[in-house]
Amino acid sequence: MAKEGADMTEETEYMIDRNLVKETASAESPAGNAKEMRAVMLTGFGGLNKLRVTKKAMPEPQDGEVKIRVKTCGLNFLDLMVRQGNIDNPPKPPIVPGFECCGIVESVGENTEGFEIGDRVMAFVNYSAWAEVVCAPVDFVYKMPDEMTFAEAAAFSLNFVAAYMMLFEVANLREGMSVLVHSAGGGVGQAVAQLCSTVPNVIVFGIASSFKHAAIKDSVTHFFDRNADYIQDVKKISPDGVDVVLDCLCGENTGKGLSLLKPLGTYILYGASNMVTGETKSFFSFAKSWWQVEKVNPIKLYEENKVIAGFSLLNLLFKQGRCSLVKAVMDKLLCLYGQKKIKPVVDSLWALEEVKEAMQRIHDRGNIGKLILDVEKSPTPLMANDSTETSEAGEEEEEPEGDNDSKERMPFIH
Ligand SMILES: NC(=O)c1ccc[n+]([C@@H]2O[C@H](COP(=O)([O-])OP(=O)(O)OC[C@H]3O[C@@H](n4cnc5c(N)ncnc54)[C@H](OP(=O)(O)O)[C@@H]3O)[C@@H](O)[C@H]2O)c1
Repeated sequence: MAKEGADMTEETEYMIDRNLVKETASAESPAGNAKEMRAVMLTGFGGLNKLRVTKKAMPEPQDGEVKIRVKTCGLNFLDLMVRQGNIDNPPKPPIVPGFECCGIVESVGENTEGFEIGDRVMAFVNYSAWAEVVCAPVDFVYKMPDEMTFAEAAAFSLNFVAAYMMLFEVANLREGMSVLVHSAGGGVGQAVAQLCSTVPNVIVFGIASSFKHAAIKDSVTHFFDRNADYIQDVKKISPDGVDVVLDCLCGENTGKGLSLLKPLGTYILYGASNMVTGETKSFFSFAKSWWQVEKVNPIKLYEENKVIAGFSLLNLLFKQGRCSLVKAVMDKLLCLYGQKKIKPVVDSLWALEEVKEAMQRIHDRGNIGKLILDVEKSPTPLMANDSTETSEAGEEEEEPEGDNDSKERMPFIH
């Protein structure tokens, strides 16, 4: 098992793909005559070599659904966690990952209102986004503005809706407040920074790898290196602390973030990036992160006048049935987009076949803004890897699974 992938020839890999096609075709189209589509398949939880592009039966829209010919999909940090099986109640593989896609409506199911063939749309789905065709219930589908590109749309939905709801629905962001955000150069981080700039005199404290600071200087007021002890630096600038802390790390920073809050300030936990310490799941990081969060003492919160909150957009949509609330937020966001107050930041575009390299870029902390899977893009040829940098994705691996030998693909930077 440990050697899986390392010595794999292309022929072997192709054979596995063919087996997978057979497996999924017999599971999903018993008649064997359904039309097929390309999709990214997660064959099991683990490293990058659990991902394959394969053929799969094309879905047809059910009652109240639209069938979307997909152009682009968002690749989120959460997709790395899903790949690792590092989430609560993961679905059983094989699965097609991905929670958001954009494209053109190709057909509509019965009793489907509000959409027509040819509409340009973006959609949330509960998995299955990374495919040439996706069917989604209309409650989770939104029309794209004419001027929005498919790359922008794939960088828009999840990042901006999550950022907006945390800032305005949970933290009640108002003029003159201050916000501290981790991973400020990433997809959600950049959405947070842009939305803060729509409110007068909001100060944004952004924490990010230092090579990103120049790129994010227009959207972030004060930035700090992720490895630095930013608490003292923030207090030097704002001795009272900050009004809102947005924590997507979930680890030793929970206590630090709470200590930075002003009275009546809000700390929002919305991710668990610290649980990803290598290419495969680390049980140690998993346990450490949850232990840190569960340690928060509610009595102290009341004595110190602090608010601690959690936010999960996908649970809100798919478990808690709040799609009309999300739709209202999307309308406000599209209005801000139309007024040119916000604009999604696209880091790079990747073919479906390049999904491993795209994920590796996130493991390496290389992205500024969002990574997009472009369904119509052909993979760029593999280049000899002359990089001397070491990848954090290799650290703390439980089973070495490298299948990319010494070659890499260069991203298409948008
Ligand atoms: N709750 C929700 O509804 C919701 C919605 C969307 C996203 N999220 C969460 O928000 C966070 C950001 O999501 P995103 O999709 O926008 O991703 P992202 O910020 O673009 O993710 C990549 C960046 O995260 C930082 N990072 C922090 N820990 C890391 C680690 N262990 N390995 C690699 N990079 C790490 C790196 O930036 P630096 O090196 O600059 O720190 C990296 O470049 C994630 O935790 C995600 O799960 C939550």
